[in-house]
Amino acid sequence: MIEELNRIATAMVAPGKGILAADESAGTIKKRFDAIGVASTEETRRDYRELLFRSKEAMARHISGVILYDETIRQNAKDGTPLVKLIEAAGSIPGIKVDMGAKPLAGSPKETVTEGLDGLRERLADYHRLGARFAKWRAVIDIGPRMPSYNCLNANAHALARYAALCQEAGIVPIVEPEVLMDGDHTIDACYEVTEWTLKEVFQQLYYANVALEGTILKPNMVIAGKKCPTQAGVQEVAEKTVRCLKACVPSAVPGIAFLSGGQSDEEATAHLDAMNKIGGLPWGLTFSYGRALQAAPQKAWSGKTENVPAAQAAFAHRARMNGLAARGEWSPALEKAA
Ligand code: 13P
Repeated sequence: MIEELNRIATAMVAPGKGILAADESAGTIKKRFDAIGVASTEETRRDYRELLFRSKEAMARHISGVILYDETIRQNAKDGTPLVKLIEAAGSIPGIKVDMGAKPLAGSPKETVTEGLDGLRERLADYHRLGARFAKWRAVIDIGPRMPSYNCLNANAHALARYAALCQEAGIVPIVEPEVLMDGDHTIDACYEVTEWTLKEVFQQLYYANVALEGTILKPNMVIAGKKCPTQAGVQEVAEKTVRCLKACVPSAVPGIAFLSGGQSDEEATAHLDAMNKIGGLPWGLTFSYGRALQAAPQKAWSGKTENVPAAQAAFAHRARMNGLAARGEWSPALEKAA
């Protein structure tokens, strides 16, 4: 069982490949579609995601896995082919978001705890039957006055560990995602401290829950200043501090780390990943699991029109290729301009 989980996890972070996070909940995808003037219906969501999964070259070369939402894993393409089959045909691995969202945390009302453990064993068995071989659970950690609290870190780390153990029991690789938000005006060093504390708590709880690290993927934030912080760190500082923090917290038994983009611009997210891989000498694969930083450009190019599908696929292929290069430390800003 651990061998199989390790095989999947290793494939998820194969050299030059990363993960497409296309698991926006109904509310989030509506927000994204509102921004491009498209009504969010079952059909438009299907059309949009189908165009991504049918981007043959991008999928086959650079996308190791796709995180789906419950609706999408059960949906068929326009011609009746299950969307899961399109992903598999491209040589990519289907995955599934299984958490039920971040809810107010009792006792610490400004913070949240991610829910979704009740009935999770049964849901995982169903998702495995539908083709999912990995899952995702996102915990949200906010930095602010007297935040995060230990209550928040402990509750979220504990839930992540129980989720991860249930996944492995079901033959599914857990993506463990504790996201320290980049909202707010905190410094990069405040982000470092909170990220370090968060990761220490998470790996402690994974140990207590008997989770096999060999069959686990970590999806962390980068160590980066808050969006409203007047002092923004350069690319090299973000890369160095992120690598230092991860080396201090993430055991080398973990096959791979796949970052979230968290509100960084497309090119920032690529530049940071590239700079980290250029540092090199890392004990784990280091790649992307981007939502916005892979999809903002194709969404804009598509804007809900069938005639824009080729342009949207080209925009997606470009970002996938740039991030694929960054995952090898072979990207440069000149490549963006060349395209
Ligand atoms: P972003 O890359 O847009 O942060 O999304 C990744 C993700 O899956 C967050 O849970």
